[in-house]
Order: sequence, then structure tokens, then C-alpha cells
Amino acid sequence: VNIKELLNKLTTEEKIGQLLQIAPFFFVKEAEIEVQGEVKDLYLSSKKIFLSGSVLGIRNAEEMIKIQKLYLERSKHQIPLLFMADIIHGYETIFPVPLALSCSWNPKLAYDMARISAVEAQTSGIHVTFSPMADLSRDPRWGRVVEGFGEDPELIKAFVEQMVYGYQQKNVKDEGNIASCVKHFAAYGAIEGGRDYNTVDLSRLSLYQTYLPGYKAAIDAGAKLIMTSFNVVDGIPATINKHLLRDILRDQWKFEGVTISDYDSLHQVVDHGCAAGDEEASLLGIQAGLDIEMASSCYVRYLAKQIEDHEVEIGLLDEAVGRVLTLKEELGLFDNPYKGASIEKELVLVRSKEHLEASKKIALESAVLLQNNGALPLNRKLKVALIGPYSKLKTTNGPWSWHGNNDLNHSLESTLISGGVDLIYVSSAENESELNANDSNELEKADLVIVAIGESIRESGEAHSKSMLDIPRNQASLVRLAKKMKKQVVVVLYNGRPLCLDTILEADSILETWFLGSMANEAIALLLTGKKSPSGKLTMSFPRNVGQIPVYYNHLTTGRPKVEGHYNEYVSYYLDVENSPLFPFGHGLSYATFTYEGLTVSKEKMNPSEQMTVSIRVKNNSEIEALEIIQLYRRDYVSKIAKPVKELKQFKKEHFKPFEEKTISFELSIKDLTYINDTGENVYEYGKFQIMVGPSSIDTQNIDIVLIKED
Ligand code: BGC
Repeated sequence: VNIKELLNKLTTEEKIGQLLQIAPFFFVKEAEIEVQGEVKDLYLSSKKIFLSGSVLGIRNAEEMIKIQKLYLERSKHQIPLLFMADIIHGYETIFPVPLALSCSWNPKLAYDMARISAVEAQTSGIHVTFSPMADLSRDPRWGRVVEGFGEDPELIKAFVEQMVYGYQQKNVKDEGNIASCVKHFAAYGAIEGGRDYNTVDLSRLSLYQTYLPGYKAAIDAGAKLIMTSFNVVDGIPATINKHLLRDILRDQWKFEGVTISDYDSLHQVVDHGCAAGDEEASLLGIQAGLDIEMASSCYVRYLAKQIEDHEVEIGLLDEAVGRVLTLKEELGLFDNPYKGASIEKELVLVRSKEHLEASKKIALESAVLLQNNGALPLNRKLKVALIGPYSKLKTTNGPWSWHGNNDLNHSLESTLISGGVDLIYVSSAENESELNANDSNELEKADLVIVAIGESIRESGEAHSKSMLDIPRNQASLVRLAKKMKKQVVVVLYNGRPLCLDTILEADSILETWFLGSMANEAIALLLTGKKSPSGKLTMSFPRNVGQIPVYYNHLTTGRPKVEGHYNEYVSYYLDVENSPLFPFGHGLSYATFTYEGLTVSKEKMNPSEQMTVSIRVKNNSEIEALEIIQLYRRDYVSKIAKPVKELKQFKKEHFKPFEEKTISFELSIKDLTYINDTGENVYEYGKFQIMVGPSSIDTQNIDIVLIKED
């Protein structure tokens, strides 16, 4: 289809329709005016509904085919609807939540997950997924940290990039591929107090250095769409923020794809107090460069008049509509409006055995062993009891998995039993007060107690912020009880954010499993029994208490840094808690024991066009086969702008056979030594840098190198 010619044939009203995204029920009910709640306020006539350009969320192929058919029957120009949905960590085969996935430090797994998600989602006629979420956050109170990839820009970049490749592959037109919409632009994760939808107030420097790289990586990887965020940036709601949508996105990053608002966020500009009503919101949106309006109707109701009155140039509308039509063309929808949607294929492909196996493999790499005083892997000779609500719960899919079905998952109880663990006693009581004398008698017979506890799946995700991060509902009392009874205690945690774990530290072992998806407990059983070794490492710091937040590894030194071992009252610290987190970024244990020795560099000095090799010997000192994540950080000692004490620059995940020793090498180039300044440019300064390599952010070997001028 020639987009220009098509655009010329459309009336203004038809063009504006392309910028509207609404839910499927508008079409199916064919309501003249919608019936309930906020939706009613969209004031959409049937005519307007059948001019809209895209649909938000779809249940299955049957529903999609029905709506597309109904729509095309009425469509004068035969422009198909675009179907978009939130496929965040799997369609029906559910994978670990993104925060868990990032703990694998294996971006290739993100590719695999996105690929399977695309193949499954497409059978129901989904063309665009609102994923990946590239929002960096340093605040575990924010429920949406579960949807992101942690606190580090380099890791986020690596993961979102692979997600985009996985969804779209080389040619998004090919069957099995869907377009990726990166979100939420910009800095949604920097909300104050971790309270969802709250204010964001950032320096330009922090915006460019910390928060923007993730979105940019997705755009550079080819993401076809970007979604604006609910928050303000520099006091202007992101959805109408010209600086974000034009200066940065179009001018600096050369993005040519589609921008879309978040749910109702164009209308919410009114609630932000930045527009007097929907009419002004429409004006501000189109001027700022917002293309599609999701779930509000400012454009549909006011834009035509604004164009007629010459308040808005028709060119702005044409640009936006042109981008939407181009996306439809790129997806191949003009040739095949039902692309991929197939009730038959849905039955075979979705939640297939192969997909579930892939999910299990990813889950195995995403769990993090936080603490282990020898209780894991389980000793076959011990009598094991299993207690806590998650002994029987199957809700391991986590937030944003609405096509998935938790009922199809297996509980920890059943996977442990089928994994050969002879459980002598099982109780799903939530805390000590729910146990009676008989329970205590049974527990008394055990040598080791597994305590499966955490947050419910409704305690993280969108609109699920918290001010307290303790393990809820006094579940920690189960750990205390078992310890009082002198049992070995293994805690298996299910949760969507870093929690304050001070109340369960007396446990011998703690396995952080987040929400690992459809095959969570199968993977957990393999890890607990030692058939596989845990290999995940944290991508977000675990605070000691809520008052420490934000606590993150790549902080600045400050002018009065606290130096461990040197007492000085007037330095940056708390009277009542250490500065360090409880479990730091990059931390995660294995059943194998690794030693790191002999960090070397191939030369001490290099100029910006040179490279150098950084090497370290890593040895597996055990008879256990395992994966290990080797992390490389850098510190820029002196520069015009204060620099973090360390910043992750490279990482590798390597497989080690029993007692195997390997030399791990990293090629260091100028890109590992640059920084982003407050206008978004990548710059460097000559001088001394520290290179740190090790198994976690607080356990590294260090060496200095110098960046020198070219001759
Ligand atoms: C969320 C987005 C999501 C959208 C559509 C919004 O409330 O913030 O992440 O893509 O809904 O479901």
C-alpha cells in the first residue's frame, strides 16, 4: 500500500480515528454509547468506534477474528485494525517476571522468552506487545519493579535489546513476529516515595545517564513503538512533553516509529493541572508529538475542530497518522488483516510442552540463592517438613500474566514429592498463630523445615506500591518457630520486589524465587534437591530497612564519604543502620564454590582508539557443575562530573564443570570508559580509571588503568 496515496483519500475524521485505541468490547457490543464508568466518558458514537485504528487487549483468536471482520465489513478504505496487548513475560506459557529474568544475567534468555511469547501471542491475532518495560527503578516500594530489569542501566539495556529482537526479529512482517512497544517513556521508575503514578523530579544529568539509556537501547534495537509514562518530567506530563517526544525521541534518537499514550494518560493531563480540559489536552498532545491516544477520546472529540479552526496544522495530523499506517503496512496487515490469528494453531502452539520446558530452563537461571549455611541442597537422609502458604499455592505466574492460568501450575508440595522428596508433614498455615499443638508435634519430627512464604501476586505490579517491605502477614514467625525448635530452616521466597529480610535471617538458607512462571515449582524443586545449582544474582539491592531507600550500588561518593573502619562523626551515614544494603547488587550464591585470582590487563595505558584485554582466572573448587556470572565494573576517578563508586560495564555467564578453571577475558574499549553528559552526549576524559572484576558488586579484584591521548 502506498501510504501517501491512502492518506490523501482519508477525510480528517477518518484520519483522527487512526489515532484512537479502545478496548474490544466497544466493537462487540456495538454500543451507541458505552455503558459504565469512565468508559462512558469517552462519548464515542458507533461511527467513531468503527473508525478507530487500534484495539487494546484481546482474549483469543476467535475474538480477534470476529472484531476484525466486523470492522472491515464497515470500513470504506479497508484499513485493518491493529491489535495490541500486554504480553509482558509470556502469553499463556508464563516465564519468570522480568525482575527475576534479569537476575539470570543471561539476556539470551530474554530473547528466547520474547520469541515464544510472540509465537504464542500471534496465534490470537496480537500484533503489538506493550513490552519491554525499560523503566529503571531504585525504589522497591514501587510495585512495578517486578516488571523491570533492576537498578542498572547496562543490564536493562542488554535485556530490553534482546526482548525487542525476540519479538520482532529481522522482519516484523513475517508470521510469528510481533512489534515491540517499549515503555514507559520517561523515568516512570523515578517516582517519589515509590508511590505509583506519583511525581518525578530529576536532574537532566540523571535523566540522561540513568533513566533514558534503557528506552534508547530498545529504540536502537528497532522497537516500532514507544509508550509515554503517567508522570511529569520537568513539570510537564510525559504524554504532552515536547522535549521528550520531539527533541529527544525524534531529533536526538531519530525514532521514526509510533508514540502511544499510556492508558487514559492524555486525558490525565487535565488532572495534572496542565490543561483546562480534554480539548486543550488534544492540542497539547498533537503538538508534543503524541500519535495514538489510548483509552481516552481527546483527539476524537476535538482535533477535527482544531484543524478546521487552524489551531492545529493538518501536517501534524498527517505525520501521526502516516506513522500508524506505516506500522500497519510494516506488519503486513493490509495484505493479511488476520495475520497469524488461528483457532487451530492456538490449540497446538500455546502452552506447548516445548514452551513449558523453555520456561523451566529460564526459571532455573532466575532464582537467587541469597544465603546458605549448608542446608541446601537438601540432604536426602533428613526428614523434611514443608510449611507456609506457598507450600500449596500455585500462583507463581506473578503480575501481568493475564492470559496465563495459575490453576495449571503445580504447587511446591507436589513438585517436591514428584522430585523424590519424602515430605513428612505439610502445612499451608500463614503464621505461627495458625498452627496448633498437633502441628507442632508433627514439626518436631522433622530435621529440616522448608518455609515457603512471600507476597501474594496482588502485592506487586501496577498500582501496588507499599510503604513497608517486611514479609507480610507475620509469615516470618514460621521461621522463628522452626528455629526455636532447633530445625534446619530453608526459606523459599515468592515475591515481586526486594523485601526487608531482617526477620528471617536466622534461616540457614534463603532462596529468592520471585515469581518464576508456569514452571516455577518444577524449577524450584530441581534447585532445592541439588539437581541444578542456583546461578542467579541480584539486579536490585535489598535494603536493610525502608528508611535506607533509595539504596543502590552505583551511588556517588559524596564529599564526606564514610570509610569503613575509620571513625568520623561528620560523614554521610545513619545513626541507626549501615549504609550498605542487606544483599547487594550482583550478589547470589551457588552450590559450587568459585575463586577469582590474578586480575591482569594486557596494557596499563590505552588511547581512545585502542582496546585492552582484562583477564581473570576463575576456578570452580567443587565437584558441582554450575554457572557463574563474572562482573566487570569501572570507576572514573576524576572528572568534571561526580562519578559513581562503581558502574557495571560488562558481564559474562559461564558454565563450569567440576573443578574446572578458566581464564575469563573482557575486551575493554572506549565505550567502557565514556559517560553521558547532561545533553545526552557520550563523552570521555583522559586519566585514571579503576577496573574491578568479581562475583558481585562488593567482592572484586581491582586494577588501575589510564586513558591517554592519541599520539
Ligand atoms: C499500564 C501500561 C499498560 C497499559 C495497557 C497501563 O495502565 O501502565 O503498562 O501497557 O495499561 O494495558
